[in-house]
Amino acid sequence: MDEITDAPQLGDALPLVASDPRWLPIALADLDAVHADHLHCERKAAQSALSLIRSYPERTDLVTAMARLAHDETRHVVQVSQLMTRRGQPASYDFGDDYAAALRDLIRKQEPERLLDRLLVFATIEGRSAERLGLLAGALEDPKSRELYASLATAEVRHRDIFLSLARDASPATWRERAAELAAREAEVLATRAISARIH
Ligand SMILES: [Fe+2]
Ligand SMILES: [Fe+2]
Repeated sequence: MDEITDAPQLGDALPLVASDPRWLPIALADLDAVHADHLHCERKAAQSALSLIRSYPERTDLVTAMARLAHDETRHVVQVSQLMTRRGQPASYDFGDDYAAALRDLIRKQEPERLLDRLLVFATIEGRSAERLGLLAGALEDPKSRELYASLATAEVRHRDIFLSLARDASPATWRERAAELAAREAEVLATRAISARIH
């Protein structure tokens, strides 16, 4: 993955609130549920990246970045799946993610706003995932799991910045304002949800 040299400034554009402190103990109390959900989060991240290639094939930078990102995410699916196998835990069905659905509802229908919003919603999900995977990395007892979660958290920060960089290129005049708006809306979405042993 290419280095994003202006990543700190990009990340500042998406000021996500800190997770409710009740989330981490709830997640740690049911790691099987967290991993089962996490596997599908990584799968859906790959599919979201590929869906942007389907929608915007003429945008060469986006196609290249999303192909690489989907590759990262499918590797994460493998890594989480290996972790679950090590724990003797089978994967389960995906029962949907109303967090992501609530954020997707904020995507405007018309272009070029639609592209900007899709990029920023994906950046938001990556940013929130990075925060929570990082919290798990700092708290898990098993050293191999800790190491895995720390590496995944770093990757998701990089992904957040890739989406922000594409958003900036797609809409230089409005991306910052819209990113701040979506960060505020994400805080509202989180506040209305029950806290559970899931990534979001
Ligand atoms: Fe990932
Ligand atoms: Fe990611």
